[in-house]
Amino acid sequence: NDESTVTITVVGASGDLAKKKIFPALFALYYEDCLPKHFTIFGYARSNMTDAELRNMVSRTLTCRIDKRENCNEKMEEFLKRCFYHSGQYDSEEHFRDLDKKLKQHEGSRVSNRLFYLSIPPNIFLDVVKCASISSSSVNGWTRVIVEKPFGRDSDSSAALTRGLKQYLVEDQIFRIDHYLGKELVENLSVLRFSNLVFEPLWSRQYIRNVQLIFSEDFGTEGRGGYFDRYGIIRDIMQNHLLQILAIFAMETPISLEAEDIRNEKVKVLCSMKPLQLEDVVIGQYKSHTKGGTTYPAYTDDKTVPKDSLTPTFAAAALFINNARWDGVPFLMKAGKALHTKGAEIRVQFRHVPGNLYKRSFGTDLDTSTNELVIRVQPDEAIYLKINNKIPGLGMRLDRKTDVETCPRYSKEIPDAYERLLLDAIEGERRLFIRSDELDAAWELFTPLLKELEEKRIAPELYPYGSRGPVGAHYLAAKYNVRWGDLT
Ligand code: BG6
Repeated sequence: NDESTVTITVVGASGDLAKKKIFPALFALYYEDCLPKHFTIFGYARSNMTDAELRNMVSRTLTCRIDKRENCNEKMEEFLKRCFYHSGQYDSEEHFRDLDKKLKQHEGSRVSNRLFYLSIPPNIFLDVVKCASISSSSVNGWTRVIVEKPFGRDSDSSAALTRGLKQYLVEDQIFRIDHYLGKELVENLSVLRFSNLVFEPLWSRQYIRNVQLIFSEDFGTEGRGGYFDRYGIIRDIMQNHLLQILAIFAMETPISLEAEDIRNEKVKVLCSMKPLQLEDVVIGQYKSHTKGGTTYPAYTDDKTVPKDSLTPTFAAAALFINNARWDGVPFLMKAGKALHTKGAEIRVQFRHVPGNLYKRSFGTDLDTSTNELVIRVQPDEAIYLKINNKIPGLGMRLDRKTDVETCPRYSKEIPDAYERLLLDAIEGERRLFIRSDELDAAWELFTPLLKELEEKRIAPELYPYGSRGPVGAHYLAAKYNVRWGDLT
């Protein structure tokens, strides 16, 4: 409704996520005219700040894709006029009541809708939700809360958090973000699958040999060691970002594009998987490395990380889906920090052509490779298919160098994942948010493994900063007759 108001309160407004992602995404949405007509943004945090100081902070950190556009400055001025600050403790009902008064002043007599973005550590989620729900109320409109991982450390702590949130909110009010779901190519994954006849029939164990989900960063945990050491790469990347991609990749066709239908299918995939065992996993941790006169630090050189930390900064894992479509197909995940490159890809390796004519006719040196579909999530988003070709010339030699690009390079800028997700939360579109049963199923898969790794104090294999990670990852893949694709 055009005449209702939406207030967006960023709780934890002075934190890193708010500065780097949330405010820039809100501004980009404003610039693109996507925010509702009557909107107001409140920053909420403990530090004392005036509205002018908040605006100053927001404008200084507003690095987003809009930066270089014309009239960016004017738009920014307009946007900042809609931004306010309220200082308060996270567990003070009184401070949230004061916020409520300010929100009401902005809302006037209009129907009021409220979105709270909890950009704060999860141990204070419940305090905020409790205070906000007791002390602030929208008039005739909706109240929604966005929360971001970590949602606990295992099945039990995650379930406790969900129970806690549900004392004050119903499931429909909780928007659990996994920002990978807002990435353009992850959204495109189901379009690719379900609207292309050339792929849909091939999407099963009959034609697919293995699927690889690869995440790689070329920097360490710099500055985030304190957080990271409590979680490690399996909880930070695999249990959420990579597993979500896997679920979309492998789910059956949903009966519609409605959020509940899609999430029902994702849950079914997760519930069809076998919880991971120790032998399905290789873990690593980066050590210091000197290259070109520069020494890159070890993970444990981080002052916020204990010297004897066994937290993995790298992991590779093999997962299986026990259903008719995927029985026996390895889904291999690999995620690591301080590796040689930065990127995220889904690589689908197809089976060999049965009775391959070229192999039969020309001998083993003319063995054709299998086809591979690569979905490059980032950087330089692309989808391409590796196919066998004859190398031009008088001889008969084949290679797989020619790629068929299956997605045109649109010249359009790609919005940041947070823009998509914030807009969806404002519009009440839940498709890209994690439902509580999905979250439970995701934890079920990883909790026994995480417990065992921690109880047995399994030491990670050390790999040099900037390398390709532990060699153990290759042995793991080899067990399933797989070779990792190289990030392109
Ligand atoms: C976050 C992780 O969820 O994702 C970080 O906590 C990681 O450790 C980040 O760096 C990667 O996100 P992106 O969008 O930069 O690939």
